[in-house]
Amino acid sequence: MNSFTQHVSRRDFIGKVGTASASVLLSSLPVFASPAVQKRVALVGTGIRALDMWSRDLVQSYPDKVSFVGLCDINPGRLEFFKRATGFTCPTFTDFEKMMKETKPDLLIVTTVDATHHEFIIRGMELGADIITEKPLTTDEQKCEAILQAEKRTGKKVLVTFNYRYSPQRAKIYELLRSGTIGTLTSVDFHWYLDVHHGADYFRRWHRLKEKSGTLWVHKATHHFDLLNWWIESDPSEVYATGALNFYGKNNSFRHTHCRPCPHKSSCSFYWDINRDSLLTNLYVNNEKHDGYLRDGCVWKEDINIYDSMAATIRYENGVQVSYSLTAYSPYEGYRIAFNGTKGRIDAWIEESNPVEPKEYDEIVVTKNFSTREFIRVPHSSGHGGGDRLMKDSIFRVNTNDPLHQSASVRDGALSILVGIAARTSCETGAPVKIADLTSIKPGMKRQFVQG
Ligand SMILES: NC(=O)c1ccc[n+]([C@@H]2O[C@H](COP(=O)([O-])OP(=O)(O)OC[C@H]3O[C@@H](n4cnc5c(N)ncnc54)[C@H](O)[C@@H]3O)[C@@H](O)[C@H]2O)c1
Repeated sequence: MNSFTQHVSRRDFIGKVGTASASVLLSSLPVFASPAVQKRVALVGTGIRALDMWSRDLVQSYPDKVSFVGLCDINPGRLEFFKRATGFTCPTFTDFEKMMKETKPDLLIVTTVDATHHEFIIRGMELGADIITEKPLTTDEQKCEAILQAEKRTGKKVLVTFNYRYSPQRAKIYELLRSGTIGTLTSVDFHWYLDVHHGADYFRRWHRLKEKSGTLWVHKATHHFDLLNWWIESDPSEVYATGALNFYGKNNSFRHTHCRPCPHKSSCSFYWDINRDSLLTNLYVNNEKHDGYLRDGCVWKEDINIYDSMAATIRYENGVQVSYSLTAYSPYEGYRIAFNGTKGRIDAWIEESNPVEPKEYDEIVVTKNFSTREFIRVPHSSGHGGGDRLMKDSIFRVNTNDPLHQSASVRDGALSILVGIAARTSCETGAPVKIADLTSIKPGMKRQFVQG
C-alpha cells in the first residue's frame, strides 16, 4: 500500500487558517509608509488597472497617506475620463516630464503599457520620486539593467506590486513550506490555465505584441515566476523553454480588424461586444480617435507574435527543479501546483472560472510519506483572492513586520521577469539560458529579503 492508498484523515481548518494568515499579512512591510506623512502622489498610465486599483480606493482607504498631485497619459481623452470617473481635482498632463517638474511628487505610480515602464521608473527616480510600478518591472534585460543602475544611482526605491503573493491560499503554502512539513523541497510542478474568455483577452489587446508586453512569458508569467521565487526562497539559475502559437492569430480561416464591424460576428465564438460595458466604452472606444487603439481587436489577427502554449524547465540555485506550463485557451481558468519534498508533497489548485464545483474556499492538500493526508481550506475573497487589499495595506500602513517576506524589491521584480526573459530567449534560440548572463544580478542560494 503506498501513501496514496493509505487511510486518509480529513480535517477542516476553515477560519483558523484564514485568521492566522490575515493577521500576519496585515502587518507586512510598508516600504513607502512613514508615520503621519502624506505622500504627494503622481500616476502615469490612466487605464483600467489604474482606475480599479490605484485611484479612488487609495485616497479613500489611506487619506492620511496619499494625496494625488498629477495624472499623466498620452491619450488625452482617457486622461479626461479618468479624472471625471475618480473625481480627482489634481492637474492632468500628456507630457510626463512636465508633470514631474511641476508637481514634484514623492511617489510615482507607473501603470502604462509594460514595454514603457522603464522610461517612467528611471526618469521618475531621477526627478526625485520613489516608484510603485505595476508588474512586470519591464520587458527585456537591457531595460532591467538600466532600472537597477538608476535605483543605485539615485538612492530612490522601486516597489513592484506582486499582488499574487498576498492571496491567503498562497501565503498558507509559504507557511507550510517554511514549516518543513514536507521535508526538503526538491521540485515543483506548476501549470497555469487561462481560459477562452480572460485568456483570449490578451490576444485582443496590446498584450498580443511582443514589443509591448514582452510576450506572456513576461507579462503574465512574471506573477507565476515571482510566486516560485518567493515560495522556493532561492534565486533562479537556468531556464530551458519551448513555446508555440497553436490556437489564436494565424490559426483560423477568417479574421477582421476588431469585433464591432466584423462580418463574422454570428459565426465567431470569440465575438465580444465591448459596448455592453459602459466603463470600457468610456475608457477605450470613445478615445480611439486619439491613438487608434482598438480594445476589441480580433483574436485571429495575423500580427499576433506571442505564444499561447508555453513550457519551461527552471533550475534554482538551491537545486530545486520546476516544471512549468502556461496555456491560454483552456475551457476553465486556474492552476494546479505540487511541491515535492523529501517527506511528502503539497498539492493545491484554484479554479477561477467554470469550476467543477463552486466553493467558498481554496484547498491545499498535504500528503506525508507513509502517513495520512491533511486537507486545509482557506477562505477566498475578491480582488486576486483578497491579495489586492492586503498588498495595499502592506504598502501604506505603518508597521515594519513582514513575517512572510511578501514585500517585493526591485531585485525580486527583476528576478521574476528574468525567468520569463530567459524562457523567451530559450524559445527563440533553442538553448538553455543562465539568469546570471542577463544582468548584473548574481543569483544566490538564498533569496535576499527586502530590508525594512
Ligand atoms: N497586477 C495585476 O494583477 C495587473 C492587472 C492588470 C494590469 N496590470 C498591469 O497594469 C499596467 C496597465 O495595464 P492596463 O490593463 O491598465 O492597460 P490599459 O491599456 O488599460 O492602460 C494603459 C494606459 O497607459 C497609457 N500609456 C501607454 N503608453 C504611454 C506612455 N508612453 N505615456 C503615458 N501613458 C501611456 C495608455 O494610453 C493607457 O491609458 C500594465 O503594466 C499591466 O501589466 C497588472
